[in-house]
Amino acid sequence: MSDIEAIQAQLVSEIEAAADAGAVEALRVSALGKAGSITALLKTLGGMSPEERQAQGPRIHTLRETVTAALGARKAALDAAELDVKLAAETIDMSLPADTAPRGSVHPVSQVMDELAEIFADMGFAVATGPEIEDDWRNFTALNIPETHPARAMHDTFYFPDKDAEGRAMLLRTHTSPVQIRTMMSEEPPIRIIAPGRVYRSDSDATHTPMFHQVEGLVIDRNIHMGHLKWTLETFLKAYFERDDIVLRLRPSYFPFTEPSAEVDVGYKQEKGRRIVGGNGDDEGHAWMELLGSGMVNRRVIANCGLDPDEWQGFAFGVGVDRLAMLKYGMDDLRAFFDGDLRWLSHYGFGALSVPTLSGGISA
Ligand code: DAH
Repeated sequence: MSDIEAIQAQLVSEIEAAADAGAVEALRVSALGKAGSITALLKTLGGMSPEERQAQGPRIHTLRETVTAALGARKAALDAAELDVKLAAETIDMSLPADTAPRGSVHPVSQVMDELAEIFADMGFAVATGPEIEDDWRNFTALNIPETHPARAMHDTFYFPDKDAEGRAMLLRTHTSPVQIRTMMSEEPPIRIIAPGRVYRSDSDATHTPMFHQVEGLVIDRNIHMGHLKWTLETFLKAYFERDDIVLRLRPSYFPFTEPSAEVDVGYKQEKGRRIVGGNGDDEGHAWMELLGSGMVNRRVIANCGLDPDEWQGFAFGVGVDRLAMLKYGMDDLRAFFDGDLRWLSHYGFGALSVPTLSGGISA
């Protein structure tokens, strides 16, 4: 065996025996580095006669290629082995119990929306949604709130500077009622929906924030009357507050999109500085609290959506989700809902796994 072949055999066996990436690198430097043995051999080519160079050149190059390939192969084998060790150490035992340390929580607004979806699903209502950027036709005009109507000013609307392609003013919806319009225009009756979501009004104090949440309810069918409305709201509020002694009072009111309209009050009493919903209303000094707006959908609104009001009737209601949450879970400042304070969230938040169900308990 010539010198070159001896060097090659020696280097390759050392490389194959290298125990780790550091050893492979040391061998690479000692063979192919600036002062490496193969580098030195390559340098001798310059001092050779042409015949000698023709004989030695290919052998030295082969040596270099063989050693380079051996280094690469050993490095790849070591990397693969290292990955195997790592993967073996990182396996997860799926049979272990869940790590129950608190990691974030479900916001009370999301929780209440889930509770509402569950309660109304049981009565056959689907959940509908609409965009938060609306046009003034769906937010106002179609709901029988004409341009000159004082309700437009009352809503403290955030308008966008530009109109949409149809020349309608664009705004942040001031209530969830435009989802009534969207649903009646896109679905055939009978309709039974709730529409929870964000709404916006330029208003801010302890009980008002510029963004808040409402849920709208809408039923459109044949022969619907106020009795259906009252039963639905009573069933909803009893399930939501999880008590049977809820008392409601329907008070005549006015909304442009309902005729007749009723405001719904719920009876409450004061207990340990906290309002407790339920009790007997006026009896024993209990008081009433205004909770939601409702009524029979105005014939004009039904007609605006392309339906025949002689054939289709229905009722609608709207209620503040944040207000429902405050009443049930005892917060008194609405602004804290949107501060993102971790202490507030961990105190009032809900576990991600405690999904509200009618059978398991609405507030879990
Ligand atoms: N859209 C009303 C508001 O934001 C609430 C409301 C009242 C909705 C009566 C209704 C309703 O659907 O029938 O103040």
